Amino acid sequence: AYLGVDLGTSGLRALLVDAGGTPLGAAEKAYSAQHLHSGWSEQRPSEWIAALEAAVEDLRREHPQFAGLRGIGVAGHMHGATLLDATGEVIRPCILWNDTRAHIEAAALDATEGVRDISGNIVFPGFTAPKLAWVRKHEPDNFAKVAKVLLPAAYMNLYLTGSYFADMSDSAGTSWLDTGARRWSEALLDAGGMRRDQMPDLLEGSEPGGQLKPELAARWGVSEQVVVAGGAGDNAAAACGIGAMNEGQGFVSLGTSGVLLAARDGYRPAPETALHTFCHAVPGRWYQMGVMLSATDSINWLAGITGAAPKELTAPLGEELRAPGRVRFLPYLSGERTPHNDAEIRGSFTGLGAETTRDDLTRAVLEGVAFGLRDSQSALASTGLRLRRLMAIGGGTGSRYWLKLIATALDVTLELPGGGELGAALGAARLGMVASGEHAVDTVMTRPDIVGEIAPEPGLQDEFDAAYTRFRNAYGAIRSVQ
Ligand code: XUL
Repeated sequence: AYLGVDLGTSGLRALLVDAGGTPLGAAEKAYSAQHLHSGWSEQRPSEWIAALEAAVEDLRREHPQFAGLRGIGVAGHMHGATLLDATGEVIRPCILWNDTRAHIEAAALDATEGVRDISGNIVFPGFTAPKLAWVRKHEPDNFAKVAKVLLPAAYMNLYLTGSYFADMSDSAGTSWLDTGARRWSEALLDAGGMRRDQMPDLLEGSEPGGQLKPELAARWGVSEQVVVAGGAGDNAAAACGIGAMNEGQGFVSLGTSGVLLAARDGYRPAPETALHTFCHAVPGRWYQMGVMLSATDSINWLAGITGAAPKELTAPLGEELRAPGRVRFLPYLSGERTPHNDAEIRGSFTGLGAETTRDDLTRAVLEGVAFGLRDSQSALASTGLRLRRLMAIGGGTGSRYWLKLIATALDVTLELPGGGELGAALGAARLGMVASGEHAVDTVMTRPDIVGEIAPEPGLQDEFDAAYTRFRNAYGAIRSVQ
């Protein structure tokens, strides 16, 4: 059997698959992020480890196949800065991908000559390099102790194996990687005031990175021959999980972040579009994606302040899609990446009337996220990619209404893969399969069965187009009054 770990923002999922890659069972453990100030988002790495141990405990109890474990792959939320001292101890809580405190440092790095050229990307505030620049300025004592900087997945790799290694797909989100050449860039490290020896070893996500530590193997009741793969950033892993490997194959992911991702043949960065161009988790491939910072986070926020569960908000909408009304929501609760690269913008409701109901607010939130994804679609279109079909994955796909809305707003057919919520964990398990040496990328990274299809509503297209134009215009107007 193989284990795929998806270290997410709201919790960790561990998925056990059999020798052929078919899911046997999953265990999930929740944790949260701390937001000490506006724009801040942190997690304690010890919580990830506790979640992993508890999930493994569940899997071992329920699945005797766990004892035959051969390989592990870890996917993690990207860009997080886990700082370790010379003894391998964590120095401060991990600063997460949706933390935008380092926006001033990010803008400075982004304006440094050569940085976009080598990294292929805007230096977004949530990326790793500007966070280290922030720590150097605001927490000099912590900065002086930094012996290694690890992304969350690489920290998990260290826990599992005792070795420092990270994969290309995750490392591409640091602003320290030469994304085209797939190696650490001395020039980028220099620009960010970092040293090569503070970085982990680099390898492809599907390559073996190390062996499970003997003490863990003993405690988990498995052999000592368990390979740990290079791993991946969660989006690359999800692409592996749904078999998005070639030009134009992609997905919409409705998680804490909203992602529109497409695999590309070759490396053609387009930082001016605010798209992300990153290495894929397998050799010789890249992908592009637009990222919005608050997707399910937006509906969870509305749920939090109305005292209703997210499902209680969406269920009353039924399944019949309605044209957008006057109420408009800008989903910028934590600022935005694609297309605005704007850490300071915040969300808004406009068009509220005395007659506005909770259902109207819910619809506006779902529409706002859909229009944010359409912004990413436009960015991908400007690179010459016209997407007609996309898989839909992530927790938000539980709402049929939202799926119809997204299909219509983007004018794409959405495909629902069986076990779509397993995307990144399945991709991670598949990386473990390849790293074990018993499977090949092409035979493992396949498309799942499609269990449903959602087509755009033809009658509503014009109204959605008009509402999208108003959404686009609202950004500048709201920006000017914030
Ligand atoms: C991608 C990104 C998010 C996280 C979410 O650039 O920041 O999608 O990976 O887990």
